[in-house]
Amino acid sequence: MKTMLLLSVLSLTVRLFAAENPKVCRPVVLKCEHIVNPIGIDIQNPRLTWQLDDDRRGAKQQGYQIFVGTDSASVASNQGTRWDTGKQSGEDMIIAYKGKTLKPNTPYFWKVNIWDKDGKVRSSAIARFETGMMGNDTWKAAWISDHNDVAHREAPYFRKEFEIKKTLKYARAYIAAGGLYELSLNGGKVGDHQLDPMYTRYDRRTLYVTHDISSELKIGKNAVGVILGNGWYNHQPLAVWDFHNAPWRARPTFCLEIHLIYTDGSKEIICSERDWKTSSGPIIYNNIYTGEHYDARREQIGWDKPGFDDKKWHGVRYRSAPSTNIVAQQTVPIRLVKTYKPKSVIKFDDKTWLFDMGQNMSGITKIKLSGKSGTTVRIAHGERLGKDGRLDLSNIDVYYRGDKQAEPFQTDILILSGKKQDEFMPKFNYKGFRYVEVTSSEAIALQDTSITAYFMHSDVAPTGDIKTSSALVNKLWRVTNNAYLSNLMGYPTDCPQREKNGWTGDGHLAIETALYNFDGITVYEKWLADHRDEQQPNGVLPDIIPTGGWGYGTANGLDWTSTIAIIPWQVYLFYGDSRLLNDCYENIRRYVDYVDMISPDGLTTFGRGDWVPVKSSSNLELTSSVYFYTDARILSAAAKLFGKESDYKKYSALTTKIKDAINAKFLNRESGIYATGTQTELSVPIYWDVVPEDMRAKVAANLNKKVAENNFHLDVGVLGAKALLNALCETGHTETAYKVATQDKYPSWGWWVVNGATTLLENWDLNAERDISDNHMMFGEIGGWFFKSVGGILPDPDYPGFKHIMLRPIFPEELHEATVKHKSPFGEIVSSWKKKGQHIEYRVTVPPNSRATFYPPKNTDQSGPAELLAGKHILKFRIVEK
Ligand code: BGC
Repeated sequence: MKTMLLLSVLSLTVRLFAAENPKVCRPVVLKCEHIVNPIGIDIQNPRLTWQLDDDRRGAKQQGYQIFVGTDSASVASNQGTRWDTGKQSGEDMIIAYKGKTLKPNTPYFWKVNIWDKDGKVRSSAIARFETGMMGNDTWKAAWISDHNDVAHREAPYFRKEFEIKKTLKYARAYIAAGGLYELSLNGGKVGDHQLDPMYTRYDRRTLYVTHDISSELKIGKNAVGVILGNGWYNHQPLAVWDFHNAPWRARPTFCLEIHLIYTDGSKEIICSERDWKTSSGPIIYNNIYTGEHYDARREQIGWDKPGFDDKKWHGVRYRSAPSTNIVAQQTVPIRLVKTYKPKSVIKFDDKTWLFDMGQNMSGITKIKLSGKSGTTVRIAHGERLGKDGRLDLSNIDVYYRGDKQAEPFQTDILILSGKKQDEFMPKFNYKGFRYVEVTSSEAIALQDTSITAYFMHSDVAPTGDIKTSSALVNKLWRVTNNAYLSNLMGYPTDCPQREKNGWTGDGHLAIETALYNFDGITVYEKWLADHRDEQQPNGVLPDIIPTGGWGYGTANGLDWTSTIAIIPWQVYLFYGDSRLLNDCYENIRRYVDYVDMISPDGLTTFGRGDWVPVKSSSNLELTSSVYFYTDARILSAAAKLFGKESDYKKYSALTTKIKDAINAKFLNRESGIYATGTQTELSVPIYWDVVPEDMRAKVAANLNKKVAENNFHLDVGVLGAKALLNALCETGHTETAYKVATQDKYPSWGWWVVNGATTLLENWDLNAERDISDNHMMFGEIGGWFFKSVGGILPDPDYPGFKHIMLRPIFPEELHEATVKHKSPFGEIVSSWKKKGQHIEYRVTVPPNSRATFYPPKNTDQSGPAELLAGKHILKFRIVEK
């Protein structure tokens, strides 16, 4: 929330790359609700966004006109029968639809004409969005399931045949489920999503998914099949987080509509109904924490194809809908994103094999093998090996309360058919693992081709890139991203193995790293809707979201559940889109009001504290109160943004009150020390801007000294790890910050990497005995910090979404070059520099319709900022001793 300075352009050598063949300007990357050509949009005011493809210097948009209609040809000829904005002047590129009421299940076409920097009109290509069910009342199908109860172990299979007699124009499937589903048509899986629908507070919000099934259907007989899995809906074995007692728990159920739109203009709907048939099949057990048990002898070949004999199948029954709020899953799906082949295979004996996939990840494995009928094959997944070289699950199965023999943790069980090569990949589960151990009841023969691993996560598009002359920096960035992706399954999780919980703190501690590196807005919009579903009327939020009821202890306070304010605010900064902040405004207010009520003097101990520290613990009241201050500050900024004058006054006064209370109690103005002066206690107030201006340099000098005395090692838990590097860097102690970031002796991020970590860990100490998952994201600020420091790419709160880019790169002594890129809403920002002796050549790309200010660091021969228009620039200057 720093105010942008009025800048004077100083005498930097600024040159523009002669754009050899400047592209003709064109609006591109048209998205609706931040998705390209989405189907199943559920709201009346979807956001339409675009970018400019224009590499001319100073490229920008002077105005725009949007056309929306149901006929692509008329939209192409500038007719917006549903909406025509008329010519609007300005540079806005996020516009919410305000045309005629959108109808359900309808394709809409749209385009945008823009006026470029020279006032020329430039047209986009035609884009589309298609509405979904748009409310509960439009559904015609029924919620169905089999006749079993929550304890039943076998997954239910469902089928129905139907005939298509006319030529199809297109077809859609809309499917909602309590639990997980896999939909198939004529023997083939529909789509490439995994674990649909995503986990929500099912009894408050149930998601449905829209599939384009036009090419899966044919004239004549067709068959549709559905398999249901338990997922988070029907949690069978005991778990310490009480999921087995979740208020929504029931036998999985689904509701499906297949819409057939014919070329003659008519429409037909195939519904889930009483005329479907159900049976059990080869999936004899499935659980989100343990695995899937699959008996290949029970496969029913052709069950989801037309002509299958289903006489032995049973009738279905109606079930109640999980909730009365069935809404579109409007977010990027979970997919099998990357494939890994084993790096090594060790055969211990004929029945015991160990595969090293070379990368810790979230996901699943596929196994192919043949053997005697009835052979039981256990495929166990874990992160560590014991001294004997065998798989060791002891760091991750600690909270599992199920039967470790019959339902082993992170283990699929396959019973071979004996008839063919069996191929198995679970449908309703994922694990966190690097190693796969296969054991069997009979001798089997495996090769390195027998196992394939799939890294699976919400398939967010990458938006960040870092390449530097430091191999450690490059590795830390990759390792951080692998931890981030491993912990993204429609909501951010703490770890993909032990818990799979949406721990709030872990989510917001990683948010900047997340948004620098991935286009995650739709995932966070979904997760914050989960927050709104979970919030108590008094404003309190649980530790983990979603939750089956667990998480209202005493520690679910500010340092964790401030997700409700911090995430919408960061999404606003990175995207310039205030929709999420607006959607959460009342929830933030309610949250802040609650804390205000229990903290009359402006201080609070509501929180968990600096979790998993190296050695020093920090004052809980200090850190929790700083997060209270942050939330109040975000709330007052949001109030101002949305023109809520009296809220703005009220909450900016509260912000000042909290700040004053923190400083009165914890800051020793004499010494410049907060509390006892741990790294966390000094860096948290600096980073979150609590320190009075006149004390900032002194407190920062103390922090710098403290870190130097510790031989440039960190001594922090998660709250300090978020603040430390930023606090040092923002106060000019950039060399210290870089040394801590690239430290490779214990304790440090680098220590993990030199010891072979391929994802971030949960504990600084490699020999710790608890909190020892090897794939955690709560220390993940490091990955984002490289964008802020060596790249120096920062959003400006006054011009969010990188409308104005603040460039504050640092040039650490030990680093020779760095190229840092971020794909912002306006296009790619590049901040790239190279040293030649004392000389630095700095290349910058500012995307069209945006502008940047370069703030040279103090150790250069430039003392003031330089304004950069859209386009490419080369700046040259020298490093000097100061
Ligand atoms: C989780 C953490 C979480 C913490 C809070 C742990 O078990 O794995 O990441 O934030 O609990 O206490």
